[in-house]
Amino acid sequence: MSTEKDRVVIFDTTLRDGEQSPGATMTHDEKLEIAELLDDMGVDIIEAGFPIASEGDFRAVSEIAQRSKQAVICGLARAQLPDIDRCWEAVKQSERPRIHTFIGTSPLHRAIPNLTMDEMAERIHETVTHARNLCDNVQWSPMDATRTEWDYLCRVVEIAIKAGATTINIPDTVGYTAPVESADLIRKLIETVPGGDEVVFATHCHNDLGMATANALAAVAGGARQIECTINGLGERAGNTALEEVVMALKVRGDIMPYYTEIDTKKIMHISRRVSTVSGFPVQFNKAIVGKNAFAHESGIHQDGMLKNAETFEIMRPEDVGIAGTSLPLGKHSGRAALRAKLKDLGVEVGDNQLKDIFVRFKDLADRKKEVFDDDILALVTATTDGD
Ligand code: KIV
Ligand code: ZN
Repeated sequence: MSTEKDRVVIFDTTLRDGEQSPGATMTHDEKLEIAELLDDMGVDIIEAGFPIASEGDFRAVSEIAQRSKQAVICGLARAQLPDIDRCWEAVKQSERPRIHTFIGTSPLHRAIPNLTMDEMAERIHETVTHARNLCDNVQWSPMDATRTEWDYLCRVVEIAIKAGATTINIPDTVGYTAPVESADLIRKLIETVPGGDEVVFATHCHNDLGMATANALAAVAGGARQIECTINGLGERAGNTALEEVVMALKVRGDIMPYYTEIDTKKIMHISRRVSTVSGFPVQFNKAIVGKNAFAHESGIHQDGMLKNAETFEIMRPEDVGIAGTSLPLGKHSGRAALRAKLKDLGVEVGDNQLKDIFVRFKDLADRKKEVFDDDILALVTATTDGD
């Protein structure tokens, strides 16, 4: 039986980290629409933007904060008091506001503001305390945590917890970690840092090595109970953990990952299409869960199997992610069973001899065309009926 401690909170950052993808800028109205869809599908926390970044971001976060029905509305702020104040001005309009403040803690990132370890520790104490005085829901992130020295990471996480952070997010900012390491890191932090078992640990993975989903799930196995993700994996460089992937992985493989989310998975496809349209980022055909081919089967063996039992080649039902059904596109790898099924779908009845004849012509056509469409099939039926 699942209990509250098995619940994984979904933190969506499509409107913040996703929008930071070069070229993915969305208009004000598009952001409001996406936020409404996220809220409606059961996302627990929506990171609506970076209020100090621009007047437009501030307006979007404020309006999303006013309109959201269920979700916690979060804004991002650097470890600077004016950033945090601006963030609070925007999110405080929500019934459930959160301030998310961060600073880069790895050696490479510490060099940028040119702070010593002690100076940075002091800054973290000051900024998290300030955020917590404004809002009782504060998330803190040590950016580039996975390349931060272990001792220093423990030290700054402890400072943030003592200063009042309620969620500690551990970002794999450059997609550098691997699943075993990701699980260990969270487990060891919870065990080692005083107060570590009193806050929620979150995982925030980037996909530079294609491991963002695996790393996020491993972090959950290690004790993280918040996954940060985006629709379609939109995000900087190779993107972030894809919401649809982690949510469906937890749903389909509950046998080995006994955790659950409150996402209404039937709403996944619609929001995926909307995010693709408004961001101008097409979804790759073979993208897990939401790609055009994720529930499509062309080869004869696969189509035959699917026609007999959908579980032969599908581990989840397309309806569960909001797709009408499996598709069996006809192409040069397709067999007679799929052709017969297609003819039936089209309401065409043919005898065995005509089917044989249509099949020969279909194979010949399929060798020349990538995909054979309904009209092509109907033309073949006419040709064989007319005795061409
Ligand atoms: O990738 C990252 O480190 C971030 C932080 C701002 C959390 O997006
Ligand atoms: Zn990020």
